[in-house]
Amino acid sequence: MQKKYECVNLSIDGDVATVQLNRPEKRNCLSPTLHRNMVDALNEVARAKCKVMVVTGTGDSFSAGMDLEQCFFEPFDDPDKFNDVNAPCFEWFTHLKSFPAVTVAKVNGWAFGGGFEIAGICDIVIAAEESVWGLSEINFGIFPGGGATWSYAHNMLRKQALFYALTGATFTGKEAVALGMANIAVPLKDLDAEVDKWVKNLASKGRTVLRKTKEVYEKSLRLTFAESMEWEMAKMWELSRETKDDWIRTALASFKKREFKPGLQSYTLTKNV
Ligand code: COA
Repeated sequence: MQKKYECVNLSIDGDVATVQLNRPEKRNCLSPTLHRNMVDALNEVARAKCKVMVVTGTGDSFSAGMDLEQCFFEPFDDPDKFNDVNAPCFEWFTHLKSFPAVTVAKVNGWAFGGGFEIAGICDIVIAAEESVWGLSEINFGIFPGGGATWSYAHNMLRKQALFYALTGATFTGKEAVALGMANIAVPLKDLDAEVDKWVKNLASKGRTVLRKTKEVYEKSLRLTFAESMEWEMAKMWELSRETKDDWIRTALASFKKREFKPGLQSYTLTKNV
């Protein structure tokens, strides 16, 4: 399924959705229309129960962040308008953070401010080595807001986080790996193939186990060890029921027959769980 919104392209191919920010002439900066399109696109992907959603940009940019004119400068003097324009942004950023599918940011170029934030919110980031990242807010007199501080602070170590937020210095996709903002960086020419490889890996896993792995990880960060252990086991039984005990009936039954080595391979899904 392909859908073209005014500023976003969406494609859904079985278990995998690809969402492209599409304002290349404006470096894919996030306009009010683009925000509204993202609210709709993410709802569509969630309804389709995809396992993986790739977020990327068209042209030479991932995203140059919030549209500084349409989201900030123009509506600034009308507080109602300012809120109306920016509410959809907070809505889809929040949805992205707790998204049921695994979210993969494919950072193909410029990633500033809100664009940097999107990558920071996603579960996995695969970047072009040549991509350029920056917390540019300090360069126009504010600090990273609307979740952008959360986003960099939860991925980078303190010294690095403060250095980049305070100076507005840029770094490359290659450097983003050591800085904790990306998992993998490859030359731009290899980016599609690298992302496809990991998307295929993810899509071979069960939908329920992918979703619950994310949920349990996020929740465990806020629990004590004892609380987390209890929560993990409760969620384990929930997973077992929702997948009709597939981990025992299919995966471990297959292991018992020595059909695969779980350390090196996934079991073969026989049900769409
Ligand atoms: N908001 C509004 N417009 C933006 C924008 C943004 N965040 N980022 C880029 N644009 C616009 C430019 O103003 C320009 O518009 P024009 O053609 O009407 O003049 C167009 O997109 C192309 O940008 P340009 O600056 O010419 O491209 P470049 O390739 O030389 O530089 C950037 C790319 C990303 C370095 C530069 O556009 C930039 O600094 N953008 C702002 C980044 C930022 O601070 N984002 C944080 C927002 S929270």
